[in-house]
Amino acid sequence: MRDVIIIGIGQTPVGEHWEKSLRHLAHDAIMAAMADARIEHADALYVGNMLSGELTGQEHLGALIADFVGLRGIEALKVEAACGSGAAAVRVGVMAVASGLHDVVIACGVEKMTDTSAAVTTSGLATAADQEYEVSQGISFVGLNALLMRRYMYEYGVRKEEFAGFTVNAHRNAAHNPYAMFQSPITAETYVKAGMIADPINLMDSSPVCDGAACVVLAPAELLGGRAKARVLASAVAIDCLAVHDRRDPLVLDAAVASTQKAYAQARVTPADISVFELHDAFSIMSALSLEAAGFAPRGQGARMATDGEIGIRGRVPISTMGGLKARGHPVGATGVYQIVEVVQQLMGQAGQNQVPGANIGMAQNIGGSGATVITHILAGV
Ligand code: COA
Repeated sequence: MRDVIIIGIGQTPVGEHWEKSLRHLAHDAIMAAMADARIEHADALYVGNMLSGELTGQEHLGALIADFVGLRGIEALKVEAACGSGAAAVRVGVMAVASGLHDVVIACGVEKMTDTSAAVTTSGLATAADQEYEVSQGISFVGLNALLMRRYMYEYGVRKEEFAGFTVNAHRNAAHNPYAMFQSPITAETYVKAGMIADPINLMDSSPVCDGAACVVLAPAELLGGRAKARVLASAVAIDCLAVHDRRDPLVLDAAVASTQKAYAQARVTPADISVFELHDAFSIMSALSLEAAGFAPRGQGARMATDGEIGIRGRVPISTMGGLKARGHPVGATGVYQIVEVVQQLMGQAGQNQVPGANIGMAQNIGGSGATVITHILAGV
């Protein structure tokens, strides 16, 4: 296998892009990444997307987007793993470059969620869960996460306000990220007073519905090592069952444990080596469970890490350093690529006021469903 490097990154601001279609958003991120990589052509394009068919009636994104960005004739495919689609596209790209099948590969995540009514978007998001056994009972995706949060609070005696630090940290960091959806910091009081969505998840526990696209260009170190912005030390996937009630233990993200362990082994690192962890904070309960699954906190202690000293930019395990899913935003199929772009920014020392001092190894973890597909990448600076 060949060593894989990232030679270019690109992203659009996350938000409501009324004026841009899916293909225009993808175009903007891809053009930015290709310019950054100083390439005019690529061997393949993998597009991460979850909801284009459900929300806009448009599938077949590989060909659609490759053609639109002037790459007619290349290999181009859509890759789908619910909210993990973005990292899944990167994973496929890493496999293609590592195996020697392709040299220069573009992985782009793109999602457009704001052109439909809340009801349509909510049912689209629920396709990440088990339709037959969960969704047919009437539960939404937020509702499933609310059950997990309620159970967590009950089992471990955690109070709701103890989760506030995750949201405060994410919004503070987003305020310094020009690509983030929410640009204002919030207080713990705002968190506590936010309107309830699915008890105990309130507006400030939840990532928003939004549009965006992000892109990375991958290449083999042996050919383009001089252009490296970051090295891919690990790329790993593990799955669990979709339905939360079928899990061995709903409060342990077994797929996240397995995916992270595989990634640590590939990269030959331990949790103590990770300078930045872009985790999947779609809901604050997922931050707590992800920190536990990745070995940063013992079982039941993840929520207690929601303090500056633990997760802040100068904390023990900086998370959501550019705002995370909560405040940069979560355009679902694009999110995994945003996370990797942000880890690259940190490793290059280009994270501005959110720069983690001395960041040299970063981990990005993208989750499809409420823990069913977990994709972990570990990157190192050059
Ligand atoms: N955090 C903070 N503010 C938010 C927000 C969020 N997650 N979502 C919306 N807002 C703000 C909007 O900016 C808007 O502010 P304004 O009035 O100052 O302009 C206001 O709240 C109302 O926005 P609106 O879009 O009408 O919200 P909504 O009530 O329709 O939707 C949620 C809010 C949380 C229900 C929706 O964003 C949602 O379903 N999120 C979950 C998405 C999801 O499940 N993703 C997959 C996870 S893996």
